[in-house]
This record gives sequence, structure tokens and C-alpha cells, in this order.
Amino acid sequence: MSKLQNKLAVITGGNSGIGLATAKTFIQEGAKVIITGRNQKNIDEALKELGDNAVGILADTANLSHTTNLVKQISEKFGKVDVLFVNAGIAKFAPIEQTTEEFFDETININLKGAFFTAQKFIPILNDGGSIIFNTTVAFHVGMGGAGVYAASKAGLLAYAKVLATEVAPRQIRVNSVSPGPIATPIYDKMGFPQEALDAMGAALSAKTLLKRFGTSEDIAKVALFLASDDSSFVTGAEILADGGMLINIS
Ligand SMILES: NC(=O)c1ccc[n+]([C@@H]2O[C@H](COP(=O)([O-])OP(=O)(O)OC[C@H]3O[C@@H](n4cnc5c(N)ncnc54)[C@H](OP(=O)(O)O)[C@@H]3O)[C@@H](O)[C@H]2O)c1
Repeated sequence: MSKLQNKLAVITGGNSGIGLATAKTFIQEGAKVIITGRNQKNIDEALKELGDNAVGILADTANLSHTTNLVKQISEKFGKVDVLFVNAGIAKFAPIEQTTEEFFDETININLKGAFFTAQKFIPILNDGGSIIFNTTVAFHVGMGGAGVYAASKAGLLAYAKVLATEVAPRQIRVNSVSPGPIATPIYDKMGFPQEALDAMGAALSAKTLLKRFGTSEDIAKVALFLASDDSSFVTGAEILADGGMLINIS
């Protein structure tokens, strides 16, 4: 039996990488999926791949009025939501001494402030018994050079997820986080590094996992499916590391 039959799921940043793979997985499991993104062309490309059980809505996570409007549109057109995957995010790296206020604000506004208010604004239109999933990262568990703002944004998100789990528990809404290790997605091409630096970073990250490889978006989509579905019915306030063993690798 399909794990998300007749469920409505919203995936922010669902037009690329982990979000897109998760949208495909959720649809295969019977869900109707609403994806968001900042760029209509990217959304339209994704919708071609996703087919009739997907809808795209333009919404910049960093813009709270977009999120308010997103929730209003979904509520009016589709009713209540069962699964919210707060996935939209950016990964920009810089040494702390070179981190400007603008750089700090861009990441925090999307990865932390945007994610915070996305979850907050969806609470009233979530069904009781629903599931909220945050996409965090292994990077804040370790001291990864250059990841100061990124790691802080995601560590804040994990802390928030635990508090939110407590506050929505009376409605049987579960809140969990998936913390991926290195996953092969377009996010690396958006970091602004030259190809040689990206190749070197990729080799170093692969070597640091126990499994000696990058994860795939599908690896994370399977974790998101577990957290979205009844398979995780007694799991809330949890973080699932999907990092290929990076965190425990001391060799
Ligand atoms: N790949 C990894 O190694 C890795 C590891 C740990 C955690 N993560 C997390 O996984 C999540 C997904 O990343 P990914 O690797 O799949 O990268 P990706 O392919 O670049 O996907 C990111 C998605 O987020 C969307 N997005 C970014 N800023 C947005 C905004 N302001 N408003 C709405 N949508 C926005 C992007 O859409 P547009 O830019 O087209 O609008 C895109 O759909 C991120 O939160 C990331 O931090 C990734």
C-alpha cells in the first residue's frame, strides 16, 4: 500500500536537488505535492518531470509576505496540508574574517528566518497528525572551515525544530529533521567556487564519509518519506543523520 495515499505535501525549494527527488518519491507514494521556488522557469521545468500530481507556486522563502500568500493560496485552493518539508536553502561558504553583514543576512534570512516563519505560518493549515520535516545538515556538528554562517543557520533550525515539536505535540503533529552529509545536487555549483576548488572539496568530503561517496538526493528523499509517513508514527523531535557515517569517522 502507498505510504502517502491521499496526502497533501508541501516542499519548499522543490524544483531542484533533494526537494525535487523528494517530490518524486512522495508522488510515487500517492501524495499530491506542492513545490515552491524563487524562479518560475525552474518550477516549470520541475513540473514537467513531476506530472499531474504536482503544483508549483512561486514563493521566496526569505520574503515573509510571499510565505503568507503561499499559505493563503494553498488553503483556498487545496485545503489542509498533511506534510510540510521545509527544504529550501542555500549553502554559501566564507571564512569568518571575510564574512560581511550582507553575506550573513542572505543565509540567515533564507535558511533560518525563512524556515522559521514557513513552519509557523503553515501550522494553522496543517492537519492534526501531520508531519513537519526540516532539512538541516551534518555541517554544524563538526568544525567545517568556511561554514560559519551556514552551520549557524542550520544549528538554529535544529534547535527550533525541537521547540516546535513540543508546541505542536498536543495536535499530534510530529516535527523532525534530516541532517544530510554531502549530497550531489546543484547546490555546489551555486557556491561561486572555481571548478578545481569544487573538485577538491568534493574529493575531501567523499573521503570523510565511511561509505566513501557523496549521497544522492534519493538517499535523502527516502529519509523524508520515512519521516512524512506513518512509518515514523512515534518519532518526533528527532534528528536523523544521513551523512554516510561522516560524523563518526575519526580515521
Ligand atoms: N547538497 C548537500 O550536500 C546538502 C547537505 C546538507 C543539507 N542540504 C540542504 O538541503 C536543502 C536542499 O538543497 P539541495 O542540495 O537540494 O540544493 P539545490 O539543488 O540548490 O536546491 C535548493 C532549493 O532551494 C530553493 N531555494 C533557495 N533559496 C530559496 C528561497 N529564498 N526561496 C525559495 N526557494 C529557495 C532553490 O530554488 P531556486 O534557487 O530555483 O529558487 C532550490 O529549489 C538545503 O536546505 C540545503 O542546505 C544540502
